[in-house]
Amino acid sequence: MHSILLFLLIAAPQSQVSGRTDDRAQPGTLSVEEIRASLAEPGALETIAPEGFFGLGEDLASFVPADNPLSPAKIELGRQLYFDKRLSKDGTVSCATCHDPAMGWTDNAPVSTGIRGQKGGRSAPTVVNRLFGKTQFWDGRAASLEEQALGPIGNPIEMGFSPEEAAARLAGIEGYVLQFEAVFGAKPTPDGIAKAIASFERTILSGANKNDYYEQALPFFDYEPSEDDDPEFLARMDRVLDLEREHRMSLSAERGRDLFFGKAKCSACHSGRDFTDELFHNLGVGMDAEKPDLGRFLATGKEEDKGAFKTPSLRNIVFTAPYMHDGSLATLMDVVRHYDKGGTKNPWLSDKIFPLELTEQERQDLVRFMEEALTGPVTDVEVPRLP
Ligand code: HEC
Ligand code: HEC
Repeated sequence: MHSILLFLLIAAPQSQVSGRTDDRAQPGTLSVEEIRASLAEPGALETIAPEGFFGLGEDLASFVPADNPLSPAKIELGRQLYFDKRLSKDGTVSCATCHDPAMGWTDNAPVSTGIRGQKGGRSAPTVVNRLFGKTQFWDGRAASLEEQALGPIGNPIEMGFSPEEAAARLAGIEGYVLQFEAVFGAKPTPDGIAKAIASFERTILSGANKNDYYEQALPFFDYEPSEDDDPEFLARMDRVLDLEREHRMSLSAERGRDLFFGKAKCSACHSGRDFTDELFHNLGVGMDAEKPDLGRFLATGKEEDKGAFKTPSLRNIVFTAPYMHDGSLATLMDVVRHYDKGGTKNPWLSDKIFPLELTEQERQDLVRFMEEALTGPVTDVEVPRLP
């Protein structure tokens, strides 16, 4: 990691610890002198690639938009903004209020609570691995993280501000002005706020789970070495098999994996490195409500999109209960039971959803696979000190 990040990644004093992580991000704890010094560090404004984890691929930089390259100073500015409650009208809510690193970067509630205790209608998704997201929100109505970031600031029941008002407030804080000028060459603007927060989010990743090691080893499980094999190839194979052995999933999880990619057809939608096809499907969740949330339809107006929601990633899914866009399913077993019964009938149910006829053991195996094999380390983010 670059030195500027090390320089600023100093945890807030323990005496300020309280229930919510963003309560520990205190205004005025980062001085103008410290900010000047860190901006002057070599490399502070140079373009860098996201730091990944094993299993996520080598091409992470290709997911960063050309008009918003990452730099250490921009990521750091985004980190401060993400935890700063001054981005909300009454100063009580930050992004981290609903996407708290201590809670899998979500809020572990069925629906979220914004300023003045107001509740929204949907469950807060995690911000982990959003780098890969082709669209943002459950209904995909935002095309990028930049576009997404301004949504909650302006939302009357989330942060209750307008992005312009938020930018004007930041323009009165010298430490922020210095950083915006260094990073964007301008005073705080809604565009700069969005770009900095999106850049920070692109660095929050998770990978290196047991399934990643398993997949890497898969081609070698039944390989019979011969004398003609290249020694370098054999050495690599041994390394890969050793890693799998060190991170081996239980037999139950392995059976669950076979179900996930086989009989239970989960991978028809939860596919690829982030376990999502980035598409929208109707599973019938919440469709039996009096006024169902019509999901993707609200963004496209297309009949076939009624009640369809974006396929979420399943990496680290164990940390983000309750599940589904409305937080209506409390546990992973509840989710598996929902699929097993063939979803909830409605006119728009996906044709990929049908009764699975799983045994109790099979349902448990699927849950074990998700809990055990899809859980991996997440980028470690310290609570920032704030200007
Ligand atoms: C009051 C709670 C709340 C606050 C504050 C909040 N969010 Fe969210 N966030 C949500 C909810 C709820 C959704 C899902 C809404 C939807 O899909 O319609 C969401 C969705 C998202 C998504 C889309 C994730 C995905 O998988 O598509 C991202 C990214 C995100 N928020 C980042 C942020 C950022 C950045 C901020 C601060 C500027 C923020 N949120 C502030 C509750 C909140
Ligand atoms: C037709 C595509 C499709 C198939 C097949 C599918 N899923 Fe999903 N999955 C989705 C969508 C879409 C959602 C979000 C639905 C909603 O909120 O209304 C989802 C949500 C989930 C969630 C909750 C995620 C969260 O963040 O709340 C879990 C866990 C899950 N699926 C696991 C599975 C398992 C296990 C299987 C196989 C038994 C499976 N899925 C099969 C598309 C699919």
